Amino acid sequence: MCGIFGYCSFLIEKDRKYVCDVLCNGLARLEYRGYDSAGIGIDGDTPESPIILFKEVGKVAALRKHIAEGFPTPLPSELNGNGANGNDNSHVQGSTKLDMNKTFVSQTSMAHTRWATHGVPSVLNCHPHVSGENTEFSLVHNGIITNYKELKTVLIKRGYHFYTDTDTEAVAMLCKYVWESQPHKRLNFTELIKTVVKELEGSFAFVFKSTHFPDEMVLTRRGSPMLIGVKTDRKLKVDFVDVEMGEERVDEQVGGLLSVPGAAGPGSGPHSKLRRSQSRAFLSDDGMPQPIEFFIASDASAVIEHTKRVLYLEDDDIAHIAEGELHIHRLRRNDGLSSVRAIETLEIELAEIMKGQYDHFMQKEIYEQPESVVNTMRGRVNFDSRTIMLGGLKAYLPVIRRGRRLLFVACGTSYHSCIAVRGVFEELTEIPVAVELASDFLDRRTPVFRDDVAIFVSQSGETADTILAMRYCLERGALCLGVVNAVGSTLSRETHSGIHINAGPEIGVASTKAYTSQYVALVMMAVQLSDDSISKAARRQQIIDGLHDIPGQIRKVLGMDKALQSLAMDMLAGQKSLLIMGRGYQYATCLEGALKIKEVSYMHSEGILAGELKHGPLALIDEHLPVIFIMTRDSLYPKVQSALAQVTARKGRPIIICNDDDDSVPESAKVIRVPRTVDCLQGLINVLPLQLLSYHLAIMNGVDVDFPRNLAKSVTTE
Ligand code: G6P
Repeated sequence: MCGIFGYCSFLIEKDRKYVCDVLCNGLARLEYRGYDSAGIGIDGDTPESPIILFKEVGKVAALRKHIAEGFPTPLPSELNGNGANGNDNSHVQGSTKLDMNKTFVSQTSMAHTRWATHGVPSVLNCHPHVSGENTEFSLVHNGIITNYKELKTVLIKRGYHFYTDTDTEAVAMLCKYVWESQPHKRLNFTELIKTVVKELEGSFAFVFKSTHFPDEMVLTRRGSPMLIGVKTDRKLKVDFVDVEMGEERVDEQVGGLLSVPGAAGPGSGPHSKLRRSQSRAFLSDDGMPQPIEFFIASDASAVIEHTKRVLYLEDDDIAHIAEGELHIHRLRRNDGLSSVRAIETLEIELAEIMKGQYDHFMQKEIYEQPESVVNTMRGRVNFDSRTIMLGGLKAYLPVIRRGRRLLFVACGTSYHSCIAVRGVFEELTEIPVAVELASDFLDRRTPVFRDDVAIFVSQSGETADTILAMRYCLERGALCLGVVNAVGSTLSRETHSGIHINAGPEIGVASTKAYTSQYVALVMMAVQLSDDSISKAARRQQIIDGLHDIPGQIRKVLGMDKALQSLAMDMLAGQKSLLIMGRGYQYATCLEGALKIKEVSYMHSEGILAGELKHGPLALIDEHLPVIFIMTRDSLYPKVQSALAQVTARKGRPIIICNDDDDSVPESAKVIRVPRTVDCLQGLINVLPLQLLSYHLAIMNGVDVDFPRNLAKSVTTE
């Protein structure tokens, strides 16, 4: 999904090459989100001169190469006007080479990785977008503007010309329109953007820059994450930024897009310094301006190499960076939100988000699982007293236990982790459980009640459908809990409470360690919920003992990697399709294994509940189609055995995942032997060979395994 990065330096001399490097490095850190083109916008020779753009379809590496050549990308008006199809940069040959050594005392710049929604991936549609030929306003955007067609129609009627297929360009033009509509150009940058944002519908995060407001930047968000990293040698006065409740004079000056602009009100001048309340954080003792840098990003991984001090913007915050200060305003006054934004210190290390000795993030993350599941349990499971305490849930336990239903809502892999634990929740809590795909849950406008307990599971905490489902449940008065990996994410902030799974950053688009950590976190939750039940004590202890051994057992399966690589090569390479069958606790493993395989190897794969075999899938079985059977020992073992017999009777070619102590598996079958654990935890072990097989298949198929085509790590639009 799109990624935003912005950089403002104030009173720190930097040359253009340095600025471009900072921007490209920021984008590289956001690559894991998935994208198809990348671009940057930097200052011209003076901040008042038109923005300079570099854009490229494909990877950030290609953009870096383009920048190193030094010929900027022409503006969309030039590209389009020349009949270029906007798909390559060949037209840049004629433009003037940029002086990359030029230095700036202060500068503002922005960068973006685009994941196409409106218009094909092309240089023309790539961000930053500008407001026509003179680039008065430029911006980068994440999300979708749902009313862009209406805005475009009105603006075209008023004489504005559009060059791209994007929804974003309508916002750039709207900025220009608002600026041109005010008779005396009195609006400051913040007020202008407020006016613009009031016209927008949809979800978004924006960074704006303008030649009318040199060295200033305005940022805003609604439904799409954005944070600001602050780097300065001076000690900030306070560790928060005040939200400024300035006078609302926007509407007095410029009416809505569909109304005629009004006459100027009695406001102050265009760059007024008068504020009703001013943030204390950036005040210096002697009132002298101090050097400072601000790094703006869609997520923390892009700023962490510069600073650990970050501030998360809330929906409808309008942040203004100017003269080394950061000011936060609200779109509308008195909307009841907190009057400060905390400057937090991130605990994540850059090394944690680097590949280290591994070839790919996915591989690294698979191999991290012995540690990541320990981190999920750390400080929460006491293996001596065989008890579990999840701090975030403690206060809510009575409410949860009284709940009429446990409603799990998630997407993708996170949804599979919910399926994996459904049985253990039903068994331990005896509360009815529903597991919902967030999009379908919303489509059906599912009835939700005040005594429902809704649990939202998400690695990123930013998945649009899951967030919308959470807000839907909040509105209906349900208790909303989050099970999230990304600290500070929207889900972790907006739910009543929850659990951080503490798996560490997951960069590979295909989720691996987040799945096992979600699974462990959810099992811990089920155990904790049942700790008031004496009749369940033995089962709880069995599960806790099982959890104790899981990291070692994971390590053991990872030790089989070479054998799995050979198996992938011998039995699965070149196949068109692969079925994965199992039942009970292993149904989730089938679904997750099949998802991994299709995501990263592009081979068709389907997870099948073995109980459904006779209701359709059996028709597919012949001597050509590979089938993986998950047949580890539990109460359903005989039933899976019978499904296996039906497949072999039809000349099927099964590969069997079974326990290492199982001697009743057919001699002739190809087997993957895994350690045995408690039935409800066995899925944690069984999924590992499938993760490794999918990884090796992807490599064999030449797939860019961390960034499979058309997929994004964080799906922040519906
Ligand atoms: C995308 C990712 C998946 C992920 C899903 C849900 O589709 O590619 O790996 O499982 O989103 O993401 P979440 O962050 O909510 O767990």
